[in-house]
Amino acid sequence: MIIHKRADALAAHLEDRRRNGDTVGFVPTMGALHDGHMSLITRASELCDTVVCSIFVNPTQFNDPKDLEKYPVTLEDDIHRLALSAADFLFLPTVDDVYPGGTASLPKYDLAGLDTLLEGAHRPGHFQGVCQVVHRLLNITRPDVLVMGGKDYQQCMVCRRLIESESLPVRLEVGQTVREPNGLAMSSRNRRLSESGKARASLIHAVLADWRNRIDGADIRGLEAWGGERLEAAGFKVEYATIRDAVTLEQVGAWDGKRSIVGLVAAWLEGVRLIDNMTLSG
Ligand code: PAF
Repeated sequence: MIIHKRADALAAHLEDRRRNGDTVGFVPTMGALHDGHMSLITRASELCDTVVCSIFVNPTQFNDPKDLEKYPVTLEDDIHRLALSAADFLFLPTVDDVYPGGTASLPKYDLAGLDTLLEGAHRPGHFQGVCQVVHRLLNITRPDVLVMGGKDYQQCMVCRRLIESESLPVRLEVGQTVREPNGLAMSSRNRRLSESGKARASLIHAVLADWRNRIDGADIRGLEAWGGERLEAAGFKVEYATIRDAVTLEQVGAWDGKRSIVGLVAAWLEGVRLIDNMTLSG
């Protein structure tokens, strides 16, 4: 695996690969890699000849400076894991390389309202920051396929919107969420949970799975309230526990048994913000 710290050096190297007929798959990350990330790299290598992974903790997507400070950094371990994976290149840029003109006047994206609900409502500015960094990284790497994790359901929708609205010549591939044996979705943030916290955090997945099992003919508002109350009773601080249209993220009044719906949860446990989702039907 070749490590590049400079955008121009990586772009030139990838151009060589493309000239030789390679397709390029790109997996953007913020490091603290876990098996979920590794599965995205494997997926990229199944789809493309050359695989690039980036590690960059993007300051513009953290609406809470404390969250940025606490974000786990495990670079040595990450490099070791990647060296044993199918990644051909690791891109490790500095903030100046990603944002050569500074971060004060970055573009604002029209996200068709996606940045005003759920994650967007609870983390103002977050999705603008995600678009700023993903757009820049796509311009540097110019991949054929962008591979992202399905745990960040709304982030994938936002990036799909970015690709369409900016007419970027890349296909988005969404990888399946990888889970711990108890159902907890793998996340870099799980490192900040205690062992008992990790055991308790599996309740998020249990709530989503119960929703899926009970969705037929159910009162949707009742299911949402029941899920939220179970989480609160177990010590979570719930931001949302909701069942939405899987395509628009609009609230679902009554479910017609046909339309595709998704359960989404964001909740705090032991000072760690956890999110997860599950397609409930369709
Ligand atoms: O999901 C993440 O890790 C980040 O939001 C991403 C896509 C790497 C952009 O910084």
